[in-house]
Amino acid sequence: MSSHPEVSRALFDQVMVPNYAPSDVIPVSGKGARVWDQQGRDFIDFAGGIAVNCLGHSHPALVEALKTQGEKLWHVSNIWTNEPALRLAQKLVDATFAEKVFFANSGAEANEAALKLARRYAIDTYHQDKVDIIAFNQGFHGRTFFTVTAGGQKAYSDGFGPKPGAIHHVDYNDLDALAATINDNTCAVMIEPLQGEGGVIPPSHEFIKGVRELCDKHNALLIFDEVQTGVGRTGELFAYMGLGVEPDILTSAKALGGGFPIAAMLTSTAIAEHFKVGTHGSTYGGNPLACAVAEAAFDIVNTASVLDGVKQKSQIFQQKLEQLNQEFGIFKDIRGAGLLVGAELIDEMQGKARDILVASSDAGLMVLVAGANVLRFAPSLVITDEEIETGFERLSQAIAKVVNS
Ligand SMILES: Cc1ncc(COP(=O)(O)O)c(C=O)c1O
Repeated sequence: MSSHPEVSRALFDQVMVPNYAPSDVIPVSGKGARVWDQQGRDFIDFAGGIAVNCLGHSHPALVEALKTQGEKLWHVSNIWTNEPALRLAQKLVDATFAEKVFFANSGAEANEAALKLARRYAIDTYHQDKVDIIAFNQGFHGRTFFTVTAGGQKAYSDGFGPKPGAIHHVDYNDLDALAATINDNTCAVMIEPLQGEGGVIPPSHEFIKGVRELCDKHNALLIFDEVQTGVGRTGELFAYMGLGVEPDILTSAKALGGGFPIAAMLTSTAIAEHFKVGTHGSTYGGNPLACAVAEAAFDIVNTASVLDGVKQKSQIFQQKLEQLNQEFGIFKDIRGAGLLVGAELIDEMQGKARDILVASSDAGLMVLVAGANVLRFAPSLVITDEEIETGFERLSQAIAKVVNS
């Protein structure tokens, strides 16, 4: 196993902007749901790069697509289109409500495009004052200034001077609050169809249907941020399909490229046409290399075997978490959809999610947190039973360590 003693965690503190606090572990390779660090220690990956590596690490089909496209054409500007982008867009259109696709490089960029498009559409179609955006407390939509302001977490959005205006927040799952805030000046409601970073919180059926109805009543566009929930994560190709509520604009990133940076904004022709030539763009958006990898990932994820497998593995995850809870009694709620699973800690364990993450790493397991009190799991959609089994053995060791400390 390769080791690079000169490239150590200490180097991070010397040469990197200190906006992250990475673990001492430096991963160097991965296969399936296993990762190896510089010292050759193996980890089971229940994090999937925060819901990114939908087919695990080094999936042969993605490696093949990357190599094949890498030897043909990496990049042309959007002055030209390219075959992989058109093929991928066609597949996204065929598989969803959407008729048009805009490609970007990250979730934040796709959301930025969605918010700008919603405003432009409303100004063109209705009037100059129809620019208000409603989003949800504890939501997360990315780190550009527009998207971080739409996200409902002041810790991320404050301290950078004047924020983009006309953005309002209400509580998730509180339809009355939305009804009291939405009006004819609202151009869009932006929502995660299951809050990820905010604590793995699913919407109630009544709430999400009500959001759609209120948007219709006030001619506001409904934007589903499916950056975390999209591309198979919930056991549906996109989460909206399981909810029975169709958005007007949908954003996708993370799993879309299976680990290669790419994002997409999907919408109808009638809305899309308000992004006329020159109104918006991206140098790298829709580059052939990213689109070729994403197409290969999409072809695999968008199959009954993978999507059914997610539902089945979801049950295994939830059962295993229940078993751990019988042993340790540390969770007050286990929830989520598909392979986006959250386990909320009991009151006596408040703030201990990060301790469990660190103890898991020591035990050879990568997990995530969502806030201070929720453990979050977003593994490969094709994680094997054996990998799940080993991962839970390690999680049990980690929890025992934290509980007994
Ligand atoms: C729901 C949601 N939207 C947007 C983003 C931002 O995506 P990116 O980090 O690719 O900009 C994230 C990232 O965690 C997310 O979970």
